[in-house]
Amino acid sequence: MSAPTFLPLLNSIAVNEAKGQKLLGAWAAATQDADLKAALTFVSIREGEHAMAFAKRMCELGHAVDEASAYQVFKNFDDLLACACSDTTDAEKVEMLTRGDSEQGERKDPFRNFFKDPSIDPQTGALLGRFIAEERDSGRRLKAEYDRVRAEGRGTSKPAMDEIASLKACVSSLEAELKSLRKMIAAGR
Ligand SMILES: [Fe+2]
Repeated sequence: MSAPTFLPLLNSIAVNEAKGQKLLGAWAAATQDADLKAALTFVSIREGEHAMAFAKRMCELGHAVDEASAYQVFKNFDDLLACACSDTTDAEKVEMLTRGDSEQGERKDPFRNFFKDPSIDPQTGALLGRFIAEERDSGRRLKAEYDRVRAEGRGTSKPAMDEIASLKACVSSLEAELKSLRKMIAAGR
């Protein structure tokens, strides 16, 4: 039996999702930002599960994952991984990892051709459908975090933001104290 025509697609997903898991997992381990860490960990777990699910589907179809023939989503994976592991700021990592996304991401839907092959069987089709929906959800989660990290990186540093937050809390408690003092004075009159 000849290999299904959609096999290269499954292979490419299996290979690149495994790389995504590595990359995001390394960044999650390096960051001190709790919200970013949570999002990166979640998406990294998802990427790993996708890699395994597609490798499993390939096995069921009688084929093994072949890294050498896969389309490479991450052209400079080793550099990206080194950057993710490093103590570079999160804002710089966002820039490094999303470079080129704004030109490609919005205009092109990377999943637009996934169902063009009419020979995709129902089981593979169901897996692809779940994969696409989860990838889009992961993209939204990461974008929300990247936007926040970028905004913090552009403007105020994290320690400065903490300082501002504690000054605000201090002002609020002084206001409350002042209010109760005024009440006491008013009551004494
Ligand atoms: Fe992915």
